Amino acid sequence: MSSLFRKKSLDLLMAQAADSEKGLKRTLGVGSLIALGIGAIIGAGLFVRTAAAAGEHAGAAVTISFIVAAVGCAFAGLCYAEFASMIPIAGSAYTYAYATMGELVAWIIGWALILEYALGAATVSIAWSEFLNKLLEQFHIGSISYEWSHSPFEKALDSANVMHHGMMNVPALLILLLLSLLLIKGTQESAFVNGIIVFIKVAIVLVFIFVGWKFINPANHTPYMIPADAKPAILPDGTQYSYSDFFRHGWGGVLTGAAIVFFAFIGFDAVSTAAQEAKNPKRDMPIGILGSLVICTILYILFSYVLTGVAPYTDFVKAGKEASVAYAIETYMHNYGWLAKLVTIAILAGFSSVILVMLMGQSRVFYTMSTDGLLPKVFSDLHPKFRTPYKSNVILFVFVGAFAGFIPGSVAGDLTSIGTLFAFVLVSAGVWIMRRNDPDRVRPFKTPLVPLVPILGILVCTAMIVSLPGSTLLSAFVWMLIGLAIYFGYSKMNSKLQKGNDVLPNDPVDILNPK
Ligand code: ALA
Repeated sequence: MSSLFRKKSLDLLMAQAADSEKGLKRTLGVGSLIALGIGAIIGAGLFVRTAAAAGEHAGAAVTISFIVAAVGCAFAGLCYAEFASMIPIAGSAYTYAYATMGELVAWIIGWALILEYALGAATVSIAWSEFLNKLLEQFHIGSISYEWSHSPFEKALDSANVMHHGMMNVPALLILLLLSLLLIKGTQESAFVNGIIVFIKVAIVLVFIFVGWKFINPANHTPYMIPADAKPAILPDGTQYSYSDFFRHGWGGVLTGAAIVFFAFIGFDAVSTAAQEAKNPKRDMPIGILGSLVICTILYILFSYVLTGVAPYTDFVKAGKEASVAYAIETYMHNYGWLAKLVTIAILAGFSSVILVMLMGQSRVFYTMSTDGLLPKVFSDLHPKFRTPYKSNVILFVFVGAFAGFIPGSVAGDLTSIGTLFAFVLVSAGVWIMRRNDPDRVRPFKTPLVPLVPILGILVCTAMIVSLPGSTLLSAFVWMLIGLAIYFGYSKMNSKLQKGNDVLPNDPVDILNPK
């Protein structure tokens, strides 16, 4: 019988993943998993979006925006932790949906995850390219021409009034190529490089917090929220930016700020895609997911508290939003010019690890969809020596590269958020469904207060989806239609579950207790 809502049995899932002990290698311990999470989490969201949220909506209370976004992520994170410890398989949200809501929903979520991971990697590689130019400028070593660092859809006037048109974003392509090669070489090697990068970026964030603390001007934190009668800020072109709108001051501004900085939390769920490579998934998955989320939340609150204490929030509307940290240091922290340069280097490194983990997560989701027959076999072919899905990494490089090289970053950014939030909603719903349908299953980690926590997860994430721009919602809808066409045109016919040849392997191993 063929049904769109046919579910994959958990016993089958676990046994197949155990059998794939012959496949992906179990090399990651709890430290690597937390680092993987932090690697994916701290990036453009913190270094670019904090200043935008503070300057345009929340003021110093952007710290509260971070808390609101973190609470939303925590609901989803608790649900991810239950699933990832219970079903430690590389497919993450896609796999959980397959077991709880059936094949069609699983396909839809797998398709949405492409928005999160593949477009997320493209977005951050474009930001990487911008910061590379900034670094070259800071060290006075020239710059990469506008033509070769922007997409063909972008153009700009230079100081001599000459119009430049983008051709291709070469630095974005280069960083993607480099990181794809690293991923092909091996998960352990990638985790090692990620660990070094995480160390650098966390160290710089801490140095900024400690050094900057002395430069906090209490006047910049008073009043803490933007008052309704705040004076408008003057933009570089001389026009005014008014704060009278409901979403530009007080609690309204804090909430909009939360939707903006939500991007900074994207990535903790990527830890779950490494479940099949975790040494002890039962214990380490919840620690990896929730641990990285907690550490980053604390760093974010302290970082934004210092940033808005050093510079008044109105500066971030007019002065370079992107280089906000370097700007605050150069303008208000005299004698710390060296720190501004180090920050730029750390940001470049930080973006690299975000891209790395996103690319890795995407290839692991493809891997699982391919072993289920929903995607062609090429996505699960492992390298004979490195045992990584190398063909998938190459295809992914071409796909993500097409976006990064030829599409402006703004197009991909909000789509990343929508794909992520959609996955969060379905994972939260899945935990609740699974508790009802399979209450006796062994759950090494249990989400507390079910169904309250899943319901709150669904509500908060749906609210954030609805608050995204209409054009983003439309693009996501078109993306989903393309996905459905592929499902009905290819995947449904090739699904192993539908064809009835999704069977237990001969000698299943206990996946929760791998040897
Ligand atoms: N959380 C990641 C970032 O902020 C996506 O760049």
